[in-house]
Amino acid sequence: MNRRKFLASASITAVLPMPTFAAEDIFRLRAEAVVQQLLPESDPATAMLGFNGSMPGPELRMRRGERVTIEVENGLDEGTAVHWHGIRLENQMDGVPMLTQNLINPSETLTYSFVPPDAGTYWYHSHYISYEQVARGMMGALIVEDETPPDVDQDITVLMSDWRMSEDGSLSDTFADRHSVAHGGYLGNVARAFLSSDQVRSGDRVRFRLINAATNRIFPLSISGVSGSVVALDGMALAEPRPLAELVLAPAQRADVIVDITGPVGFDMMTRQGAYRLADLAVSGSNTLRQPQPIAVLAAPDLQTPGEATQHLTLTMMGGAMGGRHDGDNIWAFNNVSDLQDDPFGSFERGETVRITLVNDTSFPHGIHLHGHHFYEVGADGALGDLRDTTLVDAGESRDIICVFDNPGRWLLHCHMLSHAVGGMRTWVNVA
Ligand code: C2O
Ligand code: CU
Repeated sequence: MNRRKFLASASITAVLPMPTFAAEDIFRLRAEAVVQQLLPESDPATAMLGFNGSMPGPELRMRRGERVTIEVENGLDEGTAVHWHGIRLENQMDGVPMLTQNLINPSETLTYSFVPPDAGTYWYHSHYISYEQVARGMMGALIVEDETPPDVDQDITVLMSDWRMSEDGSLSDTFADRHSVAHGGYLGNVARAFLSSDQVRSGDRVRFRLINAATNRIFPLSISGVSGSVVALDGMALAEPRPLAELVLAPAQRADVIVDITGPVGFDMMTRQGAYRLADLAVSGSNTLRQPQPIAVLAAPDLQTPGEATQHLTLTMMGGAMGGRHDGDNIWAFNNVSDLQDDPFGSFERGETVRITLVNDTSFPHGIHLHGHHFYEVGADGALGDLRDTTLVDAGESRDIICVFDNPGRWLLHCHMLSHAVGGMRTWVNVA
């Protein structure tokens, strides 16, 4: 099979494994080898990694402001660590080996505990040799429920990823070949979305929580059979819902949309060759009770308002194929340095407002992720734009972000194209 060519759309709807515990319980996640039917039923199932017997792992639902405890048992034959992506949590719970914790060794259990401060759509994933462990399937949805949920008939998670499959239905074991790392990263030849429900009624109002859990692939998404609005990005409510057009999700980015079902629902990734179907959602029956009404605005996030920036830093992305030279000793670099160094890229006092200019001086797009915080993307007009934890900067472009560094600790700042991260695009900041 040519790995640049996708298989014919699988057109199967696999349902996300739902948690078997209530929101107030202790969650137990066991990282382990699993077998998942990624390909159509007529093809073999695939040996992968996952949690609690499934890939993706169970969807964790928790309540804003209430402490959760998650016991992670390592049932793998190598170390691991789990990162709760996008949650503004205590630094020592962030799941980053060597920076915030020791590895969870095989058969060990580590207890994570934190209070999620914001309602919204998040996810969890391995943060150890993540370009491989995530590519093998170590991911799941993490939902922080709203205190007052918007009026919808269903709340459905849509977690998408891609995988590089061999002819025999097994995962290819090439996760970090030099060519991929220097280009767009490990890209799959099969892409799928997993849904937490397999049926809606026509006329239903539905919230979709879209999560790009792929290691490197940017998903330009189109949803057919619906009309509605985007209500949140990276977990954070938009002040004004935006009309739903084509959405672009970089790796690790999320979008919440609220839509009315008008026909058979399809989730498509738009490619140069046309639409590639990620999942179908069957429509059966119709909802005759729902009255037309405007789409709800979600509760505004409770974040500190940025002050005047006290530092202005520049982070220049360098290297890769067709990129300029740099002094780092890996394929990619930030400001001429590859990989984590002893000294942080930035040192901030707690509460400091900082402007960072992200300059993409390479030939590839990069999705830059900051741990432990959300930041504002600054618009071309200089105004504060969307709050995000991962921002996509296209090749040759630059973007300013403004962040109030109010969460003490050592936080990673890296490209969430995980091949680029292992290829050197990683640094960290210190908030004291
Ligand atoms: Cu979603 Cu450093 O990761
Ligand atoms: Cu990158």
